[in-house]
Amino acid sequence: LSLVVLISGGGSNLRALLEAAEDAEFPARVVAIGADRDADGLDLGEEYGIPTFTVPFSSFPDREAWGDELLAQVQQWEPDLVILSGLMRLLPARVVQALSPRLLNTHPAYLPEFPGAHGVRDALAAGVQESGASIIVVDEGVDAGPILAQERVAVLPGDTEHSLHERIKTVERRLLVQAVLDIANGNLELKEQSRA
Ligand code: GRF
Repeated sequence: LSLVVLISGGGSNLRALLEAAEDAEFPARVVAIGADRDADGLDLGEEYGIPTFTVPFSSFPDREAWGDELLAQVQQWEPDLVILSGLMRLLPARVVQALSPRLLNTHPAYLPEFPGAHGVRDALAAGVQESGASIIVVDEGVDAGPILAQERVAVLPGDTEHSLHERIKTVERRLLVQAVLDIANGNLELKEQSRA
């Protein structure tokens, strides 16, 4: 499978995919890395010899125009799967429609608990003893698409948003690599999004 991975941050989930793909037997390869800003994780492109592109949100008049350019850049690579790996922007509906169901997102909570941009903070604020990590198919809702994989992660006494997020991310990285492997091997099916 060819993957395009979209990021906004440090790209540790991306790094997990790149490391997995160093094994010749791993059935997926990252063919390009895209970002909506000057994300630190773009450096991984140079480290692994993979092309990168940036479509700065701030350079476009509105979300639709930004999304159209992002989609055009992504489609140049004809990827089998597109992975939102910490892309902190909502994609316009027509971008989702063009790519779904071959569009995955990773989320640092046990969906449908704590969707949205602050899944870790919201779990802490709610005082739950367990949160989790989820891999989903992106549909037009916010973190509302079909769940492909998820796992519980304990919230520990004294956790900060950072410490809990780091614990969740170790699980998130493993789930993402496994989900890509399962899709490639035909053990996980990507269903068309429901169009209610
Ligand atoms: C992940 O927890 C992702 O789910 C969230 O932001 C984090 C990205 O981390 N939305 P990284 O850039 O892959 O290190």
